[in-house]
Amino acid sequence: MTPPKRYHPVLVVLHWLSAILILFTLLSGLSSLDDLPNTPEKAPLLATHMTMGLLIFGLTVLRLVIRFVTRKPAPATAGHPLLDKIGIATHWLLYLGALGMGISGLGIASQAGIFPLLSGETVPLPADFSIYPPRIGHGLVARLLLALIALHIGAALYHQFIRKDGLLGRMWFGK
Ligand code: HEM
Repeated sequence: MTPPKRYHPVLVVLHWLSAILILFTLLSGLSSLDDLPNTPEKAPLLATHMTMGLLIFGLTVLRLVIRFVTRKPAPATAGHPLLDKIGIATHWLLYLGALGMGISGLGIASQAGIFPLLSGETVPLPADFSIYPPRIGHGLVARLLLALIALHIGAALYHQFIRKDGLLGRMWFGK
């Protein structure tokens, strides 16, 4: 049976939705969340961040499940076996990175006892989240994820404009 030309439409939706949510959560986390003092005014921002982070985590798990049960297009080539291997590794590291952010985020929230923020309750915030080990991992994986996203976007542009193989169309709707 010939492989389909595109990914399953549910995977297409999940890909672009995750891309928007991850970029927003990463950039807002690195630019504002980390810099703000842990006063009570920070609670709504943290609650929004945690909600988006949990949503991304759930969507990533759902995406992996759907990926395994749907038919995928044939493997793409970037024109060199080493580049193809880097491409495959980048895709799996992106999944791992998204899951790693969710798990380390859950670790920080549980150690800091801030889950009640999700239901609008008030809890005291620690002076600095870095006293919790998962916070170190969360910061490191965030930077790794940002680098992987840059590589992923660079590769998509390379396929689209240099190889002109229409690879981006596989992650869009159509027959
Ligand atoms: C893919 C999902 C997520 C992304 C992309 C993300 C991104 C970030 C970033 C970029 C930072 C700042 C890191 C730094 O400057 O070193 C941060 C901090 C934080 N995140 Fe997340 N996060 C995610 C999921 C979560 C989840 C699920 C939770 C909790 C349920 C969470 C809780 C926190 C907390 C408590 C901080 C510390 C804020 C501070 O130090 O003031 N995150 N996150």
